[in-house]
Amino acid sequence: MKSFVINGQRRLCGETDIQGSKNSVLPIMAATVLVNGESIIHNCPELSDVDAAVKILRLLGCTVKREGHTLIVNSENVNSYEIPDRLMREMRSSVMFLGAILGRMGKAVLSTPGGCEIGLRPIDIHISSLRLLGVSFADENGKLKFDIPDGLQGTRVTLPFPSVGATENVMLAACTAEGITVINNAAREPEISDLADFLNKCGAHISGAGESTVIIQGVKSLNSAEHRVISDRIVAASYLLCAAVTNGNICITDVVPSHIGSVLPVLREMGCTVETGINTVKLLSPEKLRRIRLIRTMPYPGFPTDIQAPVTAALSVADGTSVVIENIFESRYKHVGELLRFGAKIHIEGRMAVIEGVNTLNGATVNATDLRGGFAMLIAALAAKGGSVVLNTEHIDRGYEAPELVLSKLGADIKRTE
Ligand code: UD1
Repeated sequence: MKSFVINGQRRLCGETDIQGSKNSVLPIMAATVLVNGESIIHNCPELSDVDAAVKILRLLGCTVKREGHTLIVNSENVNSYEIPDRLMREMRSSVMFLGAILGRMGKAVLSTPGGCEIGLRPIDIHISSLRLLGVSFADENGKLKFDIPDGLQGTRVTLPFPSVGATENVMLAACTAEGITVINNAAREPEISDLADFLNKCGAHISGAGESTVIIQGVKSLNSAEHRVISDRIVAASYLLCAAVTNGNICITDVVPSHIGSVLPVLREMGCTVETGINTVKLLSPEKLRRIRLIRTMPYPGFPTDIQAPVTAALSVADGTSVVIENIFESRYKHVGELLRFGAKIHIEGRMAVIEGVNTLNGATVNATDLRGGFAMLIAALAAKGGSVVLNTEHIDRGYEAPELVLSKLGADIKRTE
């Protein structure tokens, strides 16, 4: 089994740059399906989720080349509209290809994505919104069949919740629809703006991305473009928390500080000194972190659900009791059982976690339960006294590019083993 072996309590110091955003590059890769030509995507992180998206693109008929952190996708010969079950299972977010496949091929066949480690993750909002654009849908024994009998028609779509994936799917489908589509209560995540920036470079007409109303004027077709993916705000916040639990002093570069605008005040409240530059964040951590009275996860620009597990791990060693409320996913506390193995004191009640800070965590052998929950294990292991083993690293590799290299460079004692 693949694992990380960590000797904790090494102070993290130094500088590291932040990888490209997973949650940006995946929908942008899906968007390349709409392009009648070549898409050149820079700052593409090396992640297993990106590999899964490459497999989907190839299966749909695209040619994909990787040159370091640049991905070159040629979509001239897209000839399939089906994503098989094994790929839907490999990456649950493969559902974001739906809008693009519909826009390009006029139909799509996917299998039911099913639940995952952090919750049920239904796609009802995606489906009901696409229906408004003229998409018909049938579930034939787990095969989800989508058709567009009269072509995609622009319309007004009001999302019942600002779902990131549903906003992206509607944007993708609306790019080449007839007329204007208006999405109300759209998700406002920076990754939505990045997707719109890429699509607009390809010739789409999208305005308002990053705000709650997005307007898409349909165009006939999309053309070749070159784009640099934004940096990963979740990875940035994750490494800041690594420094915070090790009395560290680090500078992260190639970040957009405003993208972690809800996380920085939390780090300051924990006692860290945080300074932001144009593309940098410097963090100096105190000897003992302070508790946070209350953190609620919210859609952007609120505190990200993807940082809930990492911050919970960090608060395990804070002075005092903190409360975290998870508002986005219904069962995103699987990591807590593993944190208890380090000696953390955390109680869960429904969507609330009460974290009683302890003086020291002790090294332990733990499982990475999911992507962000897995990174929370690394944070706890860095803070813990003695050696730890984090098993099932494949979850972490979905979203963090070579974390052992980043952390070793900053002074951590961490190795990857088979
Ligand atoms: C995206 C991110 C993920 C992040 C999440 C919330 C990507 C690839 N993933 O996931 O890292 O944790 O946003 O910030 O960008 N929901 C429904 N029906 C739907 C769609 C969503 O009930 O049709 C619910 C979900 O179960 C969840 C909530 O809405 O409880 C938010 O989901 P959504 O914003 O869609 O997240 P994803 O796009 O899947």
